[in-house]
Amino acid sequence: MAARRPLVVGNWKMHKGVAETAAFLEALLQADVPGSVEVVVCPPFTSLPHAAMLLTGSAVGLGAQNVHWEDHGAFTGEVAAPMLLELGVRWAIVGHSERRALFGETDDTVVRRAARAQAAGLDVILCIGETLAEREAGATLAVLERQIRGIGALDPAHLVLAYEPVWAIGTGRNATTEQAQEAHAELRRRLAGTFGAGPAQRLRILYGGSLKPANARELLAQADVDGGLIGGASLDVDSFCAIMRDAAESAAGVDS
Ligand code: PGA
Repeated sequence: MAARRPLVVGNWKMHKGVAETAAFLEALLQADVPGSVEVVVCPPFTSLPHAAMLLTGSAVGLGAQNVHWEDHGAFTGEVAAPMLLELGVRWAIVGHSERRALFGETDDTVVRRAARAQAAGLDVILCIGETLAEREAGATLAVLERQIRGIGALDPAHLVLAYEPVWAIGTGRNATTEQAQEAHAELRRRLAGTFGAGPAQRLRILYGGSLKPANARELLAQADVDGGLIGGASLDVDSFCAIMRDAAESAAGVDS
């Protein structure tokens, strides 16, 4: 497992304007970011320019929470990949369950957004995950398979998957280590079918859903869990840093 560098991503959702973003990032840059872990923060669009300025020259990466499938056009309220790149943004989240559930995102639009973002030069974090009803119906793996069906169109070298069971997001109820590892291992098997064994071994699969310092160590220690996509616990710099340290320990194989 050692070949995959852990990735810890903070998804701030609709939190932190410019002033709060600055306060958070100034504290983060004072903290010890372990070199073995890749760290990315995803503030709201309006905070990206200031965040980009503060993060210039640092090891902390900057991501957007969404990106459109065209470079420009009549798409009120949307933001295009070249606009993000111009700011210094290097990552984009696509297909978050909140986008799917509240804003009509589909498996098709998610892949279109991801493909355009990659073509423009962004790395993509593509989110998937089943609802509670789907899990209880025994449909988890079928749902995940459907959600990744189109990803053969993407470049695996610039892709990260985030497995986020919808029932775990913002609920305080995380997946168990067994549930996470089972889903991640199954996803990696399917990625091997799509991209080949080598690219599938290199592709990072993040866990998301109520990840916090109290559960990060055991979840991130799972063989196919390569980091986390963190919502609530990423808003507090101390808990975000604690998760980063847990990720570093899991990479080093330290288990106490
Ligand atoms: P949560 O959110 O950590 O607050 O559950 C995760 C996410 O939505 O990416």
